[in-house]
Amino acid sequence: MSDPLRTRFCALVGCELPVVQTGMGWVSGASLTAATSAAGGFGILAAVTMTPEQLLVAVRKVKDRTDRPFGVNFRADQPDLEERVAFVVSEGVRLVSFAGAPTKGAVARCHDAGVLVMPTVGARRHAEKVLEMGVDAVIAQGGEGGGHTGVVPTTLLLPAVVDAVGASIPVLAAGGFFDGRGLVAALAYGADGIAMGTRFLLTAESHVPAGVKVLYVAATPTDTVVTTALDGAPQRVIRTEVVDRIERSPKLLRFPRAAAAALRFRKETGTSFAALVKEGLAMKRNQDLTWSQVALAANAPMLIKATMVDGRPEVGILPSGQVAGVIDELPTVAELLARIRTDAELTLKRLGG
Ligand SMILES: Cc1cc2nc3c(=O)[nH]c(=O)nc-3n(C[C@H](O)[C@H](O)[C@H](O)COP(=O)(O)O)c2cc1C
Repeated sequence: MSDPLRTRFCALVGCELPVVQTGMGWVSGASLTAATSAAGGFGILAAVTMTPEQLLVAVRKVKDRTDRPFGVNFRADQPDLEERVAFVVSEGVRLVSFAGAPTKGAVARCHDAGVLVMPTVGARRHAEKVLEMGVDAVIAQGGEGGGHTGVVPTTLLLPAVVDAVGASIPVLAAGGFFDGRGLVAALAYGADGIAMGTRFLLTAESHVPAGVKVLYVAATPTDTVVTTALDGAPQRVIRTEVVDRIERSPKLLRFPRAAAAALRFRKETGTSFAALVKEGLAMKRNQDLTWSQVALAANAPMLIKATMVDGRPEVGILPSGQVAGVIDELPTVAELLARIRTDAELTLKRLGG
């Protein structure tokens, strides 16, 4: 009998276990991505927050550590997307994932270059829209997921997305997954695997400072909150003093603060001022944002960096899925994936498969 854990997604991207480590800004760097792909899963580098030079170093590092396939996460409105895609193609990267819907042009650019495209969606109609654009796979993220997220829970979103696009392309379930039972449940819904963010953030290979990981491990399932105060789009984070303060601050004050931080982010990612304006215009048009929201959107990555890189949760934020509330240890990625495989096989056996 064929292995039920070897799904069409495995065949599409060339991994052994249909478990994706998603792109998480400032979190999924070379060591986490290499460890995931080396252990048979599919790792994705978070490149939105990297300069082109940092991306080059990270891609080469992953390739030094494993010859297994991996992906890179971009945003469709990044001003230098074309150059970045050309670079990842020249390095043999298998897939580009997008936070949210890519543009038609971005999909075409990747396909022309021979790279697979996999966006994340939070609603059935978004899945239908990206299918029309010709994407190769889709991550359906339920509302319990970390970072930017929708309102429909995984148990309702997943079957809807599978019904809408599952006959054409592989669907990966995201939002709340952490173990082998979850993988089998996702397959039962008709998905082709799972994609996890928070669970991979809480592994030995993730570079998140130890003092910050402790805060995630201590969280309960009700300790996260979805807020639009950070960048205008709903984002799930651990509820902290910082988040409460930002939510309380008058909207008029948020703008100048965010604009100043946006300029700092420009320096960090090596973006020119002209490119920043171009990116702002694209965001304004594509996501229908006000200028104030554009500035907030540019600021949000700085708040994440403060925590994930500088280890300063007293001034930064902690994007997180509700699943942090059921995670209480930091395994290596290899241990985690081996455990998921074993648990999934036991679950299938228990079900008589
Ligand atoms: C700290 C953090 C940062 C994230 N950054 C990104 C990002 O840069 N790009 C993206 O596509 N998704 C991002 N996400 C969403 C994740 O990729 C993933 O879809 C989500 O975490 C899945 O839900 P889970 O946390 O319940 O596993 C982020 C999530 C977290 C927790």
